[in-house]
Amino acid sequence: MILAQPMTPSLHVKGTTKLVGIFGDPVTYTLSPRMHNSVFSELHLDFVYVPFQVREKDLKKAVEAIRSLQMVGVNVTIPHKQTVIPHLDEISPLAQKIGAVNTIVHRNGRLMGHNTDAPGFLTSLREDGPFDPENKRAVLLGSGGTAHAISVALLDAGIQNLVILNRTLERAQELVRRLKKSYGSRDISAESLSVPVLKESLERADILLNATPTGIDSLTVPIPPHLFVFDAVYAKVTPLLTWAKQAGAVTLGGLGMLVHQGALSFSLWTGLEPPVQLMKKSLEANHVE
Ligand SMILES: NC(=O)c1ccc[n+]([C@@H]2O[C@H](COP(=O)([O-])OP(=O)(O)OC[C@H]3O[C@@H](n4cnc5c(N)ncnc54)[C@H](OP(=O)(O)O)[C@@H]3O)[C@@H](O)[C@H]2O)c1
Repeated sequence: MILAQPMTPSLHVKGTTKLVGIFGDPVTYTLSPRMHNSVFSELHLDFVYVPFQVREKDLKKAVEAIRSLQMVGVNVTIPHKQTVIPHLDEISPLAQKIGAVNTIVHRNGRLMGHNTDAPGFLTSLREDGPFDPENKRAVLLGSGGTAHAISVALLDAGIQNLVILNRTLERAQELVRRLKKSYGSRDISAESLSVPVLKESLERADILLNATPTGIDSLTVPIPPHLFVFDAVYAKVTPLLTWAKQAGAVTLGGLGMLVHQGALSFSLWTGLEPPVQLMKKSLEANHVE
C-alpha cells in the first residue's frame, strides 16, 4: 500500500475555516495554493486556499459563488483578469488604471477588485533585483495582463522611456493608447516584435522585461552585458535568463513577483502583515525549475 504524503504542513479544514482560492483556466500548475496554504498552516490561520478551474462561460456564476459560499476572496488568473471586471461591485484605482484584476476581496456581500501584480512586481524589482526604474529606459515584451501591470508599475516608478514590443502589434498599440490616457506626456511607444527592432531597442535600453510565456528564445538577439533582464515567468531558470547571464547581464526571475503579489493578496484577505520570508521559503521547498 502507498502511504499518502502531505503536500503542505498539516492543514485542518473545519466548519469555521475561511475559504480563499484562485479562478483560472488552466489552474493545474499554479504555485499559489502551495504558497498560501503553507503560510496558513505555519501561522495556524483558519484559512484554506483552493484552485478552481473556471471556464470563460462560467465566470459570472463563479463570481456569484464568492458571495453565496461566503468566500473571503480569490485570486484571478489567465484568462479572466480583464473579463472579471464587469462582474465586480468596485475596482481599486490602480486596477482601473491597469485594466486588470488579480485579487478580489469579499466584504459584506460586496466584491472589490484589486491588482497586486503591479506593486508585487515593483517590490521584487527594487528589493530582489535590485533595480530602480527611475529615469531608466525599458523594453517590455508582451501586451497581455502582466504587461499591463508591469508598464503601469514602471511608469508610476518614473521610467523615462518605455518601448512595448508584441507579436500582435495592434495589442501593443492598444496598450500604449491606454497608458497615454494616464501618462500623456511620457515617452511610450509600440512596435512589432522582430529581431531588428529588438536589437536596436536593446542598444538604447537599461532594462529588458519579458511578460510573454516564451521570452525571446526563438529570436537570436545579442544581449548587451550592461542590460538588467527581468523575466516574469516564474521558473528559477528560463531560456532568456540563461542566455542573459551568459552575456554578462544581471537577471531576475518572476518568483519574487509571485511572492510579493501573493503577500499583498494575503494582507487584503487576512488584514495581517504578510509573512514574505515564509512565502519565499514555501516556494524554495517546491524546487521550481
Ligand atoms: N511572476 C508572476 O507573479 C507572474 C504573474 C502573472 C503572470 N506571469 C507570467 O507572465 C506571462 C504572461 O502572462 P499574461 O497574464 O500577461 O498572459 P496573456 O494575457 O495571455 O498575454 C500573453 C502575451 O504573450 C504574448 N505571447 C504569447 N505567446 C507568444 C509567443 N509564442 N511568441 C511571442 N509572444 C507570445 C502574447 O502576444 P499576442 O498579443 O500576440 O498574443 C501576449 O502579449 C505568463 O508566462 C505568466 O505565467 C507571472
